[in-house]
Amino acid sequence: MNTTAGNVGVSDTLMQKALSRVADFRRFREEGLICRNGEFFPSVHYPPITMYSELDEDALFETYTLPQDRKFDVYAHIPFCKQRCVFCHYPVMLGKKQAEMDQYLAAMEKEMDIYMRRLSIDRIKVRSILVGGGTPSYLSPQQLTHFLNFFTRRLDLSECEQFNWDVDPSTLVGQDGLERLRILRGYGSDRLTLGIQSLDPTVLEIMNRPHDKSVALEAIENSHNAGYQINIEFIFGHPGETLASWVASMREAVTLGTEEIQLYRLKVEAYGDYQAPVKKLIDKRPDRVPSHDEAIMMKQFAIDILAENGYRENLRRVYTKERKHYSCYAHNQCCMLYDEVGFGLTAFSSLRDRFVLNTPNFGEYYQAIEEGRLPLNRGLVRDLDQQIRWAIVLPLKNRDVYKKTFQRLTGGESLNHLFRPKIARLKAYGLLQESERNLGLTELGTFFADEVAHQFHHQDYIPHSQEAYASGPLNPYLDTDPYATESMAAVA
Ligand SMILES: C[S@@+](CC[C@H](N)C(=O)[O-])C[C@H]1O[C@@H](n2cnc3c(N)ncnc32)[C@H](O)[C@@H]1O
Ligand code: SF4
Repeated sequence: MNTTAGNVGVSDTLMQKALSRVADFRRFREEGLICRNGEFFPSVHYPPITMYSELDEDALFETYTLPQDRKFDVYAHIPFCKQRCVFCHYPVMLGKKQAEMDQYLAAMEKEMDIYMRRLSIDRIKVRSILVGGGTPSYLSPQQLTHFLNFFTRRLDLSECEQFNWDVDPSTLVGQDGLERLRILRGYGSDRLTLGIQSLDPTVLEIMNRPHDKSVALEAIENSHNAGYQINIEFIFGHPGETLASWVASMREAVTLGTEEIQLYRLKVEAYGDYQAPVKKLIDKRPDRVPSHDEAIMMKQFAIDILAENGYRENLRRVYTKERKHYSCYAHNQCCMLYDEVGFGLTAFSSLRDRFVLNTPNFGEYYQAIEEGRLPLNRGLVRDLDQQIRWAIVLPLKNRDVYKKTFQRLTGGESLNHLFRPKIARLKAYGLLQESERNLGLTELGTFFADEVAHQFHHQDYIPHSQEAYASGPLNPYLDTDPYATESMAAVA
């Protein structure tokens, strides 16, 4: 790798730390933790949602009972955008189609009613809310008001912890942008996640973002002035990005005064059914893509620059100055594993031991709702093995596994007696740490959080084949039985 600290814009110490992370990455490939070709697969749901089969409404609600406190986290999905970003795998409808958006909102209103009938409730008691997409703020100010009216009318917000929106900056500038910020605030919204992605104009152009750098900065300023807690998101490893341009983006990001900064490594392969154009772009111009080693260095540079400026990892990938600044929605769903209901295209619901995903197809969505059915596409009622792994994988990846929560969600299983050979090995490699209350990642473990989480997958759900990993002691196919004991530990 032909890079020097001076060229990249970092100190010798930061360069040394980044190179030592590359050494860790190579070592863990040889030991089987990371697959041989270095590909990365984010651990988001367990089992991965691409592996679910059809699940009908009756199967979803059969034997389901409301949570004791009757609260849900609520998600609403608004799948409209101005244009397609090169990296984006989400099924979205592009261009301003006023009538289509109105039709969609009308369907979502009915969907909420069908859902509440199934749950036998007349309002949803809310723990936290996320409105995502797509770009929900792509709706006109009038449509936003209409949406917020019917949406909040069906919610009991008296104990709502946080009301979040995922937005793109281009919708928060100009007269309409200021109006949207005012409307959202008026309905109690208090946190915004803005997709900034990069502060390098060339990279933003390659990404085909609907905004340039100056619009991104203006949107952050407008959101601050309107009184929101702000999270800004960045992608590293994108075509066109260099170590130097990434470092410059991070150095500028920490000057913007946002409460949170979130980092994503570029995911090239689709998570679901739609493949983003980035794959074709990379096939055409492989020379413009940062290598795996460079992506590792980018991540470490970002961690160190953020730390120098007082930002530390709070929830996974999200760096904050204060512990209280994070997404309650993400924390409730991924760490506390609370029940959640989702409305709209591709939205999902997580109901204790069951998970269901809405259709990604507009036609199917409208038809189901017209017929008074939920627009379900596929899902799963987890068996005990799946429930045990789910209750480890999500919280481990995102913060810590709380042993008491684990016990409650698995009908009394104790983490002190499960996966002992695997846990012992991951502790010996400095990836896991454990106390009486928690099982969590070490600092080294957090860097490779996705791969450590994969260690707890059933063999059928490990993202790559056994041969794709080196046959070292950390090959994820070793000791996958939760009830394995130390004496049964597999030898690599
Ligand atoms: C729902 S998306 C976009 C929200 C909003 N529409 C926007 O564009 O700002 C949420 C975030 O996921 C990240 N993301 C999307 N696709 C990605 C990919 N292929 N690889 C890594 N991160 C990705 C981006 O940082 C994006 O802002
Ligand atoms: S990244 Fe955001 S703005 Fe771009 S296509 Fe995806 S959802 Fe739309």
